[in-house]
Amino acid sequence: MPQHTFILNGTQVTAEVDDDVRLLWVLRDVLGVTGPKYGCGLGVCQACTSHINGQAFNPCSVPVSAVQATDQITTIEGLPATVGKDLHPMQQAWLDFDVAQCGYCQPGQIMAAVAKVRQARAAGHEIGEADFDEIRNICRCGTYYRIREAITAAAKEF
Ligand code: FES
Ligand code: FES
Repeated sequence: MPQHTFILNGTQVTAEVDDDVRLLWVLRDVLGVTGPKYGCGLGVCQACTSHINGQAFNPCSVPVSAVQATDQITTIEGLPATVGKDLHPMQQAWLDFDVAQCGYCQPGQIMAAVAKVRQARAAGHEIGEADFDEIRNICRCGTYYRIREAITAAAKEF
């Protein structure tokens, strides 16, 4: 069985799985990291959204063989450590604005939100309505309005 090594939430990990197994299943079923959720498995729902080298991506759509040993994968479990706190400001804002309903989509929503704030800044502006419109994460509970409130508040904190 091939071995695949990468950095997961700051720690080097190695998984023994076939090359074509997609990263979401390696994270969840082999490494026990279940923050990234399985919704569609097709790169559509965004429930699995995590970060690769600081950018949002969908591990359900990436074969583990495409991940390099130096790639930094961050899931919701590793997000607080990126700011050296118990909770990332985006997570705190989610609590403050009572965003979650069933909660299933929320790890992906938070990871997408953090990446979108960074992306907007890299483009030279703070996050706004046009950026919100680009977030494609589906929430079957319809928490979209509170998500936008929480992102707006959190973006002032990091
Ligand atoms: S499970 Fe990855 S995008 Fe839906
Ligand atoms: S909170 Fe239920 S799917 Fe988003």
